[in-house]
Amino acid sequence: MAAREGSSSAAGKIAVVASVAVNLAWLATYIHRRYFGGNNGRSDGGEIATVEPSKGKPPVTEHSVVNLDHGDPTLYVEFWRGTGDRATIVIPGWQTMSYFSDLVGFCWFVEPTFEREVRRLHRLVGNAVVEGYHLLVGTGSTQLFQAALYALSPAQDGSPMSVVSPAPYYSSYPSVTNFLNSALYRWDGDANFFGGDTCIELVCSPNNPDGAIRKPVIKSESRKTIHDFAYYWPQYTPITEAGDHDIMLFTVSKCTGHAGTRLGWALVKDVEVAQKMVKFMELNTIGVSKDSQLRAAKIIKAICDGYELSPSNEANRLFHFGQRKMAERWSRLRATVTASDIFSLPNELSGYCNFVKENVASNPPFAWLRCHKDGVEDFEGFLREHKILTRGGPKFGVDEKVVRVSMLDTDEAFNMFINRVASLK
Ligand SMILES: Cc1ncc(COP(=O)(O)O)c(C=O)c1O
Repeated sequence: MAAREGSSSAAGKIAVVASVAVNLAWLATYIHRRYFGGNNGRSDGGEIATVEPSKGKPPVTEHSVVNLDHGDPTLYVEFWRGTGDRATIVIPGWQTMSYFSDLVGFCWFVEPTFEREVRRLHRLVGNAVVEGYHLLVGTGSTQLFQAALYALSPAQDGSPMSVVSPAPYYSSYPSVTNFLNSALYRWDGDANFFGGDTCIELVCSPNNPDGAIRKPVIKSESRKTIHDFAYYWPQYTPITEAGDHDIMLFTVSKCTGHAGTRLGWALVKDVEVAQKMVKFMELNTIGVSKDSQLRAAKIIKAICDGYELSPSNEANRLFHFGQRKMAERWSRLRATVTASDIFSLPNELSGYCNFVKENVASNPPFAWLRCHKDGVEDFEGFLREHKILTRGGPKFGVDEKVVRVSMLDTDEAFNMFINRVASLK
């Protein structure tokens, strides 16, 4: 009797557990369908809810032109291929439809999850102070750059604000500043030769194109700054301090490699400046793609989780991956340049990195390559004849015997570049 009672109560327990399990499974399926759509990434028609790979640039072959003119960060594809679903999102057709992201937050078009993950990332890396800063999102940091120019202009007497940066400066600064011929601001060239007091100085550090670590050069009290920190990440440079400047610009393009997501962010100290920047974004594009923000949030979360939840797994550590790839490329390029009689590069910089907690060398995103060969005046043109596309010094405000070469492209493009440079005498 006791035995029968025992077995029937065990059977009862099994039945209860089984019923709870079935209900939980149903609930999980319901939640997945309700919030993530479809059947595990399949739409109702059985189609896989992933996207066709976009074409991007043509593949590099032995005879093709190697295009290293743009800083297209395709080097990172290898890392993200390895992260699988941890960095994947599925957005059902009915979601992210409203213009609005957060009507109670400081900026109505910033997705709260994006803001949360960006602040988390800065705390993890230690490259910028986030407490006391307003966070704004933009369609690339290029849009935020324009929003910042708008917010800091015109000069107090109503005349156009001078915008300057020391040469060699990022080649987009003059063209983006002058594009609309604005009465609010105008490009005024090399900051080292600026004669006035009132200006906006663009401080790009590490600097595009030469990798230099920069501080403002204009000493006047009426000088305002925009710090462009596109490359202030551990794969490129030692993180020596947390930036705490008035306006700091960042972008996923160069941090994670997702240039096509077109997402940047600004950390802005002054509330009125931040409000003016929000106004610019409202009038320019009525906010910023929510889809991009949600994707970027997931990608940044994957990076932070990689370091905070499974730090020993190399496959989860983006900055270590980037640092290793960049260091390999720089060591090959330096060896090739040393073996040549006709080229030179800026000296290698190094320092203690608060993020990796050791002394590391810088690995700038671009090689600032100089040519000393007699008879070569236009170095960009010389390399073009050898099927290598780069960007020549004049676009950065300096001479023609130096070019900028992207170090962020695919292995195929980089290998072909090294082979071709090694053959030049
Ligand atoms: C120094 C610097 N700032 C900003 C940008 C633009 O970044 P985004 O893709 O976010 O517009 C770049 C892109 O090359 C850059 O080199």
